Amino acid sequence: MAERFQAPRGTFDVLPGESLARAEVYVAAAELFARAGYGRIETPAFEDTDLFARGVGQSTDIVRKEMFSFTDQGDRELTLRPEGTAPVIRAYVEHGMHKLAQPVKLWYWGSFFRHERPQAGRFRQFNQIGAESIGSDSPLVDAELILMLDELFRELGVPGVRLRLGSLGTAETRAAYREELRGHLHAHEADLAREVRERIDDNPMRAFDSDDPATRAVMAEAPTMLDRLDEADAEHLAAVRRVLDQAGVEYELDGTLVRGLDYYTRTVFEFESEALGAQAALGGGGRYDGLAKQLGGPDTPACGWAAGIERILLALDTDRKPPPAEVFVAAADAERERAMLLVRDLRQKGVHAELDLAGRSIKGQMKQADRVGARRTVILEGDGPAQLRDMSSGEQDEVELGRLVEVLGDRGEEDPGA
Ligand code: HAM
Repeated sequence: MAERFQAPRGTFDVLPGESLARAEVYVAAAELFARAGYGRIETPAFEDTDLFARGVGQSTDIVRKEMFSFTDQGDRELTLRPEGTAPVIRAYVEHGMHKLAQPVKLWYWGSFFRHERPQAGRFRQFNQIGAESIGSDSPLVDAELILMLDELFRELGVPGVRLRLGSLGTAETRAAYREELRGHLHAHEADLAREVRERIDDNPMRAFDSDDPATRAVMAEAPTMLDRLDEADAEHLAAVRRVLDQAGVEYELDGTLVRGLDYYTRTVFEFESEALGAQAALGGGGRYDGLAKQLGGPDTPACGWAAGIERILLALDTDRKPPPAEVFVAAADAERERAMLLVRDLRQKGVHAELDLAGRSIKGQMKQADRVGARRTVILEGDGPAQLRDMSSGEQDEVELGRLVEVLGDRGEEDPGA
């Protein structure tokens, strides 16, 4: 027997039963963004490898070990996008969007790729909804973005949502802080996990993310960036907090919140759900005022977030029944083609109409009509009038063939007088 295939490790198929809840998330997000004046952007599934190496950062896990990179037939170094912010900024710069009224507010929905160890809620191809607001350093931008993600989770009914908020200061204030943190880590080097010890110099802040108990004990004593913000950074954070407080959005101020990407400045945040297991992060983001310049563009402040669609769906109850058919057209063998044309006419009128495509007997077709939840069934058996059966009452009437589309197409929903 020929060898069978399976979806590659860390990937999944979305089957029809699961796609309905996914579509609801899409519609909720699209409506939320439309109300807030965000335009949809789509960027390619792969980009120059250097865009991520420079944008996301050489010392991050993503760039060091999680990218799906390849050389194409033209010897170009390319990478399946592991995240969306660097590509969106690339597009902002490439299309001269700094000439538009600022901030430019963009959102996206699509697949991203990271070569991580698969587990519940962690995949190698996953999907994100993301938002980027580019061109303003106002703390209202950060606040607007956080309020929107909070609103999305509320509207979808995601249970057990918690928000952590922090600030990483600016590149300058952080450089001094990192030096101080390195000192603390070197002083306790013997207690640190090997992974953390090896990265004291290139990425000391990742030590806050360690699960190792001894490392955690060292980090509990470490100074945090929140203690080292300069006056302007501190006021920016205070302004974001004032809006969240007045809007009644609860959060935990967390000086140990370091995100896995290097571009952040000032505000960082992460939403988690108690309904999720080890991979609890629903979504996160922050401000990244240096990225556009770092990617060769104008010096442009920006802020954004991305949320994992599979994580949202895992946290939600996603059992959805497919919508029932409005009409099922059952037909004797000689009438099957006529049934197909009737179904086509009904669908053109916006009616959800189905028919048998598997050669079932009339009795079998009535069962199939039940299975698809049809409210009404038409039975075509000869040249005479058709039978129209109401599936809940069992009542059956004759209808002239020529009037079927008119009778069935009238869904009784429109009120012409209204
Ligand atoms: P991130 O935290 O790396 O941020 O990813 C955002 C969300 O994507 C995570 O909170 C998680 O829900 C989901 N996610 C990430 N990796 C996986 C995975 N392997 N499997 C399933 N879900 C995953 C970013 O990507 C930034 N670009 C966010 C941002 C936008 N910052 C500023 N603007």
